Amino acid sequence: MTEFRLTQVSDTHLSRNFPKLTENFHRISTHINADRPDLVINTGDVSWDGPTSRADMEFAKGLHAALPVERRYLPGNHDIGDNPTAVGVAPSCPATEELRDAFVSVFGEDRWQFEAAGWRFIGLNSLIMNAGIPSETEQDDWLKSQLAGGGGKPIALFLHKPLFLNTPEDPEEAATAIRFVPQPNRAQLVALLGAYDVRLIASGHVHQRRDFTYRHIRHIWAPSAGFVIPDRMQEVIGIKETGLVEYRFRPDSFEVRHVRAAGQANISLDELIRR
Ligand SMILES: [Fe+2]
Ligand SMILES: [Fe+2]
Repeated sequence: MTEFRLTQVSDTHLSRNFPKLTENFHRISTHINADRPDLVINTGDVSWDGPTSRADMEFAKGLHAALPVERRYLPGNHDIGDNPTAVGVAPSCPATEELRDAFVSVFGEDRWQFEAAGWRFIGLNSLIMNAGIPSETEQDDWLKSQLAGGGGKPIALFLHKPLFLNTPEDPEEAATAIRFVPQPNRAQLVALLGAYDVRLIASGHVHQRRDFTYRHIRHIWAPSAGFVIPDRMQEVIGIKETGLVEYRFRPDSFEVRHVRAAGQANISLDELIRR
């Protein structure tokens, strides 16, 4: 295969209780149905509230299963709980082995690796980082072997949380610690990835579209497919709009297109929680 077409969707936050979000998912489904990429990746917050509602995860899985293309999933904090951090308040629902297991039982996996068009693709569970649970250690060992086993192929990494705001040295302020991969894992991951030919890090979580390059690595923040967070709750960093991201990988190069599906609405979180 000399070209591999991949579509990233993120932060779909699906639940039977939020038909507006289901409607936005139908809009991107129509787009994907017409475009027929080789793979769709959902980079997390697939469900509205996985920790309290397995039904939300099953509902989300059913909608994705209706897509006419292959799919892979990664968990978000709204699927399996959030990372403990050394800075700021502890998350109300920390990621646990049980919540991870529940996600895997619905979606089949929480991390993955595959190769296509001369690239190695690696998907990570970013919520168990700093959790101190067995699957965190297992994933650390697995990641090292996946990076080392790529045979020099360029690497594209996918995970729910961005690594950092602008640089790995950004201070981990309490107000934003929960937005990025927490320390000390962030520094460890940056150092580990620096030893390999990583060219793309694609994330979700922030519900803002962003595209920047830092030291040869392109960082793509996928927007939410479902909704945006109002300015009174979250500062503007990138672009607050719903949408999806399309990639074309060829041996030794890739292209990125930031797109919106026809009819995909810019729903505000305010419209969802004022009920
Ligand atoms: Fe989200
Ligand atoms: Fe998230």
